Amino acid sequence: MRSAGKGFFITLEGGEGAGKSTQHVHIVAWLEAHGKEVVEAREPGGTEVSEEIRQVLLDTRNAGLDSQAELLLLFAARAQLLQQVIRPALAAGKVVVSDRFTDASYAYQGGGRQLGVAAVAALEQFIHPDLQPDLTLLFDVPIKQGMQRVAGRGAADRFEIESIQFFERVRNTYLERAAAFPRRFRVIDAGQGQDQVWQQVQDILQGLPGL
Ligand SMILES: Nc1ncnc2c1ncn2[C@@H]1O[C@H](COP(=O)(O)OP(=O)(O)O)[C@@H](O)[C@H]1O
Ligand SMILES: [Mg+2]
Repeated sequence: MRSAGKGFFITLEGGEGAGKSTQHVHIVAWLEAHGKEVVEAREPGGTEVSEEIRQVLLDTRNAGLDSQAELLLLFAARAQLLQQVIRPALAAGKVVVSDRFTDASYAYQGGGRQLGVAAVAALEQFIHPDLQPDLTLLFDVPIKQGMQRVAGRGAADRFEIESIQFFERVRNTYLERAAAFPRRFRVIDAGQGQDQVWQQVQDILQGLPGL
């Protein structure tokens, strides 16, 4: 399914320390250098309301946050981001680059929290039945390697304190989705150095039809 509107919707997915934020910067610069109007987003967040929801989601004091409540909050933040930012940008023909989107809910809440595919699919169907990313870059890195990269990043948030088993479920769910939707997904070996990872991304961007 193509995204609604005439723009192009790119999402970046993967676990902690996979290099999403690092590559996001390169991707946006590359697109702009190729004459594209780019709108950046991140999840959860990207609007004032969504950033407030992000605070609730990441706050380690909310240790008692129920998994279903967590999933609903993520989709609440996403609904706001879609209405306020993503849909208008795509309708205006812009390229949207989002650091995470609904695949993250499949991976973290469906897989990691073990709520299952159906729960996430029901909300996806409710919030954006008409819209899928045109391209999803999955930055795949072994869990421990990713964790080592973010070790120096400061206090861990409510997701980052999860177990290795949780992150293995997240990673496996991402890879399963990439296998299930091969037209949309590109899996990047994010265990390589930054320059090699960027080279992989650039090769994909250069080969994109319709961008
Ligand atoms: N390919 C890479 N090899 C080694 N370190 C990397 C690589 N990509 C990113 N980093 C570093 O790892 C840390 C996490 O990267 P980041 O882009 O923030 O990951 P994410 O946004 O996926 O959590 C940062 O300190 C970043 O500089
Ligand atoms: Mg990041």
